[in-house]
Amino acid sequence: MSDFLQDYLLWGDQVRRSLQAPIEAGGGVEVLEGLAVVGMGGSGIVGDVVRSLAAHHSRLGVPVEVVKDSSLPPWVGSGWAVLAVSYSGNTAETLKAVEEAVARGAFVAGVSSGGRLRDLLRSEGLPWAGVEGGHAPRSALPSLIITSLRLLQSAGIGLGGDLTRIPSLLRPRDEVEGLAGRILDAVSEGVPAFIATGRWYGLAVRAKNEFNENGKALAVAMVAPEWGHNDVVGFEGSEFPAIFFKDPLDPVSEAVEAVLKEFSRKHLIIGLRGVEAPEEYVAEFISVSQAVGIASVRYGLGRGVDPRETASIRLYKKVLKSALGEGL
Ligand code: PA5
Repeated sequence: MSDFLQDYLLWGDQVRRSLQAPIEAGGGVEVLEGLAVVGMGGSGIVGDVVRSLAAHHSRLGVPVEVVKDSSLPPWVGSGWAVLAVSYSGNTAETLKAVEEAVARGAFVAGVSSGGRLRDLLRSEGLPWAGVEGGHAPRSALPSLIITSLRLLQSAGIGLGGDLTRIPSLLRPRDEVEGLAGRILDAVSEGVPAFIATGRWYGLAVRAKNEFNENGKALAVAMVAPEWGHNDVVGFEGSEFPAIFFKDPLDPVSEAVEAVLKEFSRKHLIIGLRGVEAPEEYVAEFISVSQAVGIASVRYGLGRGVDPRETASIRLYKKVLKSALGEGL
C-alpha cells in the first residue's frame, strides 16, 4: 500500500497525538475586535473551519476573516488577532501577511512544522505551536486544525467545546473507507462538483483541493444557497458528477437535494451528521475529509500519477518567492 494512503488511513492516531502534544504558553489577547486566519491550500482550510465554528458553533462574538492571500484587509490591525497557519512554515503569501500583521500591531500567533514562520514569531516573542513533520501539508489536516484551536485557546481566543472528545466522535474507519469508495465511484468521469451549504463550505473546498492535488484533476467547489441561483442551471445539460455534503440541520439542503435528483444525471448525496457542539463539527469535518482524502489518493493512483508530488505548486512557489521578495 502507498505510504501516502497510509498517512490518511492513520488519521485517528494523528488526532490523538495532536491533542497530547505540548503547546508552549506564549501570551494572549486582552482585547479582541476580530480574528484573521491566514494560510494557503492545505493549511488555509483551517481558516474555513475556524470561521464556521465562530459563526455557527461558538460565541466568539467578533468577525473572522479567512485570508488566503499575501495581504490583510485594511481593517485588520491593532485590537485584532492573526493566526498564521503554514505546514512548511515557508509559504510566501503567509509570511508576507504575518510581516504586515506584526507591522500593524496585531496580536500574531502561528502554527507550522518549523520553517521561517517559527523563526519569525520566535524572534518577535510571539506564540508559535509546532505540528509533527513528515506529512504533506494536506495529510496533516487533523494536526493543523487541532493545534490551531489549542493555540487559540491558550491565547484566550477559545472557540469553546471540549476538544478531548474528538477521538470518540470520529466516524469508525470502516465507515470512512465505505464513504471513500462511494466518492470514488461518483467521480469516475468528468469534472466533479463538490457542493455544500454555508457552514460546510470548507468541506467542499477541501474536497476540490484534494482532487486537484492528489488526483491531478480539475474539480470545483460550490456553495448553497447561492448555488440554487446560478450553478444549478449548469447541471441541466451536463454529465458532470455532483457530490453534495448534506447538512440535515440546514433547510436549504432539502432544496439542493430535490433539484439534484430532478436535474443532475450523476450525483451522490453524502449525509453529514447533524452537529451542534464545536468538537462535533471538528470531528465530522475531519472524518469526511479523511474519506475524501482516501478517495482522491486512490483516484490519483488509479490514473497512474503520484498523489503526493505537486510539481506545479513547487514551481509556482519558487517564482512567487522571488517576485514577493527573497527574504521570504
Ligand atoms: O496541501 C498542500 O500541499 C498545499 O496546498 C500546501 O498546503 C500549500 O501550498 C501551502 O503550503 P504550506 O501548507 O506549507 O503553507
